[in-house]
Amino acid sequence: MTDSETGVEIRTDQGTAYGLTPGSHDPDLTEVGAGSPMGELMRRYWHPISLSEDATDLPAAVRILGEDLILFRSTDGQPGLVHPRCVHRGSSLLYGRVDDHGIRCCYHGWAFDTEGNCTDQPCEPQNGANRDKFRQPWYPVEERYGLIWAYLGPPEKKPLLPRYSTFEDLGDDEHIFTDDKNIGSGRYFSGIVPFNWLQHFENILDTAHFYWLHFFHSGPQFGSRYGEFDVLDFQPWEKLGGLEWNITTTGVAVDRSAEIPDGRVLHTTTETVLPGVRGVSNPFGDPGPTDSLGFVVPVDDTNFKIFTVLRGKDRSFFERIESMRRPGADPHADPSQAQRFPGDWEAQGSQGAITLHSEEHLASSDRGVRMLRRLLRDQMTVVADGGNPLNVAFEAGNEVVQIKAGQYFQK
Ligand code: FES
Ligand SMILES: [Fe+2]
Repeated sequence: MTDSETGVEIRTDQGTAYGLTPGSHDPDLTEVGAGSPMGELMRRYWHPISLSEDATDLPAAVRILGEDLILFRSTDGQPGLVHPRCVHRGSSLLYGRVDDHGIRCCYHGWAFDTEGNCTDQPCEPQNGANRDKFRQPWYPVEERYGLIWAYLGPPEKKPLLPRYSTFEDLGDDEHIFTDDKNIGSGRYFSGIVPFNWLQHFENILDTAHFYWLHFFHSGPQFGSRYGEFDVLDFQPWEKLGGLEWNITTTGVAVDRSAEIPDGRVLHTTTETVLPGVRGVSNPFGDPGPTDSLGFVVPVDDTNFKIFTVLRGKDRSFFERIESMRRPGADPHADPSQAQRFPGDWEAQGSQGAITLHSEEHLASSDRGVRMLRRLLRDQMTVVADGGNPLNVAFEAGNEVVQIKAGQYFQK
């Protein structure tokens, strides 16, 4: 460009941050409130909300899919999940007292069973002659794998609580173990991860970051049992070129084959299974099908939790995960360590509470991310059109979801 008066060329800097627009996230993909497209898709599945052992006679506040609820266990052993606000005059059942069959509000003693039926109104004549007319809003819960699972969707669409092939046919010396410390988030703690669930879930298919972040930039942060991640002669694209992503019958999977130093070819399948199941090969032990699954659960639009279920002889897997704590993973330690050795927490959390999709530039290594987003959009449409999404079953015998994640040596 030239100055029109002087004819002198004007040089301007290009691409500066001046005038940068704030950007926006895609609400359909990320927001999980009732009535939103993703919220309705998520409400067609059972989600783990708590360790079984944390459902006790002391009511607990739980938040899932943007809804605040109260979890308790009646003294006869039944877990219950109810809306907090008592239908009488609104006191919170967080202060309720649990009894044989349910929970009793602290204010005037109305009692509700685990399905919200009002069973007693002690301050009313005849203990509430019309008490049958009142029902505390509730949700169905079931227990499996040491977890409490809840279904928050339309009652007539409630599927069977799924089983996963990973945990079928246990040997005599095998057991199921459960952990709520957000394994895979980059920090090992029983709290809530403070950013959008999809940033973590789509990361499972982002194999490029595995090579770059975990082995080259900050690594090694994970084991390289067979020497499959040789970071010294690091050629990311050469390795990434052998990746193959596919939409499967249950979600999206990525397959990779790597020649290890002894000449054998190690094949690895990693997968996302709807709604939030993470299948990653076991970082320890022998090759084979994975023996653990992570369950990514949206707490709300900007928070999530990960529960992990494991089959094995003992809990040593969890202990080994904890012992792999990388530098920078302790939020109370020197914060510069997190800058020098960032991990999943820093990479995914720094994308924002909800990443700005309008500002992204997806590239070829994001193929799995694109596929997962496309699949989620397709499934939202299926639900909006009255259909049933992937991985729901209504007939006993069909509720086992087949998991493909694992590692093996090619013959
Ligand atoms: S407000 Fe709950 S019994 Fe009155
Ligand atoms: Fe990672």
